Amino acid sequence: MTPAAGEPPCDTPAGSVRKHAPQRPAGLGGVSSLDLAAELLHRLQAMSDPPLVLGEPETRAGLLLQRTLERALDSHSNRVSRTRYRDLFATFHVSLGSAKPALADATYVDLGCGATNPLGASFLFLAAGARRAIAIDADPPEDSGEALRLLADLAALLFVDPGAIVGEQPLTLASLLANLQGFDLAKLRAGDQRGLAWGRLEHRHDRAEALSLADGEADVVMSNAFLEHVAAVDAVLAELARVTRSGGLGVHVIDGRDHRSLVDPSIHRLAFLELPATEQLVHACNRVRPHEFARRFERAGFTVVELVPFERVDPEPIRSRLAPPFAQMAREELAVTMAKLVVRRR
Ligand SMILES: C[S@@+](CC[C@H](N)C(=O)[O-])C[C@H]1O[C@@H](n2cnc3c(N)ncnc32)[C@H](O)[C@@H]1O
Repeated sequence: MTPAAGEPPCDTPAGSVRKHAPQRPAGLGGVSSLDLAAELLHRLQAMSDPPLVLGEPETRAGLLLQRTLERALDSHSNRVSRTRYRDLFATFHVSLGSAKPALADATYVDLGCGATNPLGASFLFLAAGARRAIAIDADPPEDSGEALRLLADLAALLFVDPGAIVGEQPLTLASLLANLQGFDLAKLRAGDQRGLAWGRLEHRHDRAEALSLADGEADVVMSNAFLEHVAAVDAVLAELARVTRSGGLGVHVIDGRDHRSLVDPSIHRLAFLELPATEQLVHACNRVRPHEFARRFERAGFTVVELVPFERVDPEPIRSRLAPPFAQMAREELAVTMAKLVVRRR
């Protein structure tokens, strides 16, 4: 006899506790995944006081959901996923070729580290061998305890399979243990800041225009989707020149797209260039093009090692609507909407 949907197969022994998928309820097919997730989250949170005790069917369904979500959320857009960490390490280290800095003894600065996973990139570089890392943002961490717990999660990912994150970079379990010396992962797992290795990793609540770093303190300054958001670009580049040691490196990913186009594909990547250039920030972006950033870094005391375009668009369909000086820009300057800029302090 064929078992009914959601029922264990006939040959399952009595007493089996295998995790059979729960039956799909009728009537919920039209509800969006976001609404379903919000409803589930709301229910679970509402049941947390007094503490939630799930029955066996809910526990089994929850486990299946947990595993399925783990796979579904391992994507670049998830700032705490293995894929995100792998992309980050590839962009800010592996792909630098001969410009790749030595990690040992290096001080890394993650400028504009964000509020969601503010310490993640810094911790990753410490785990890979850097001596010290400083994460800086004008926005405080969204949840300080969670920011620490995420480090324990990242450590777990690295211990299980370092190569899945750092690629070809040699990172044995022994060197990982040595690199994370001073960190107490159990305390980090509990969101306790005493788990941080003293003097090796810190968060600073600074504005990039006036950093609390000493002159020449940084060996490497990295930033991801940060430079396009600053209003006083030259003041920030002057600070980067001050805090980077001579010969030190800057690696900056600049997202020069109209950020509205990230959520609404009907908006052209360059649509924000239609507004007068006198507007300093438009939709939270300064609109300085990646090639112009390269020239300004040169003027601020850096040598451009490379500009790597990440995305190009055709600017011609929109050119006639652009405000000056954007309308008159060379095709390539407009075409590159997102790029990595690698610069060396002279
Ligand atoms: C798009 S987020 C990028 C966050 C992070 N790097 C990431 O990739 O997820 C830009 C960050 O830049 C920060 N920021 C913008 N202007 C700043 C300034 N003048 N000084 C310091 N941080 C600034 C914002 O607070 C925000 O966290």
